[in-house]
Amino acid sequence: MKNDIQKILLSEEDIRKRITGLGLEIDRHYEGKEILIVTLLDGAIVFTADLIRNLSIPLRLDCMRVSSYGDSTDPETAPRILSSLKTDVSGKHVLLVDDILDTGNTMKRVHDEVLAKNPASVHSCVFLDKPDRRENDFRSDWTGFSIPDEFVVGYGLDYAGRFRQLPYVGTLKPSVYENS
Ligand code: IMP
Ligand code: MG
Repeated sequence: MKNDIQKILLSEEDIRKRITGLGLEIDRHYEGKEILIVTLLDGAIVFTADLIRNLSIPLRLDCMRVSSYGDSTDPETAPRILSSLKTDVSGKHVLLVDDILDTGNTMKRVHDEVLAKNPASVHSCVFLDKPDRRENDFRSDWTGFSIPDEFVVGYGLDYAGRFRQLPYVGTLKPSVYENS
């Protein structure tokens, strides 16, 4: 697995420090309120697990599954909501959490879906952002790191379902794409 990595973009230490900072910012923003974290499966699992352990405000968790990518590194079609929320979001402060903001189509779709259910507020926090790839006007309220337009894996992000368990973020060697 480590042999498949071309270059490490973000180390474990970089990630840990940044998430500590994000936790403080989010705590401050929502002071005195309870939030509902909506995690986008599967990619945001690792980020969410670390983020919530850096939050002191009361929170609950729910998950949503959205499809936008197949096994390729290019977007398939429009994102579809494959599994929706268990929680009634009306009147709640919702924080959407995803691994990466790429075209922005996934987050826009999810944001619109949640907003239609009368929450008290909807904000978003993404681990990574590739601003050069954006296809709409979606902006995240909190971003871990902005990165260049390169396909990355690790810390929850996958290529063809693999590499999610890497504790850092890196790019893959061309041979990985050639052999799959
Ligand atoms: P968007 O709808 O184009 O913003 O895509 C967001 C989703 O695409 C993310 O939740 C990821 O699952 C996937 N994605 C986008 N870029 C990457 C990448 O560099 N590595 C792994 N997955 C990615
Ligand atoms: Mg994903």
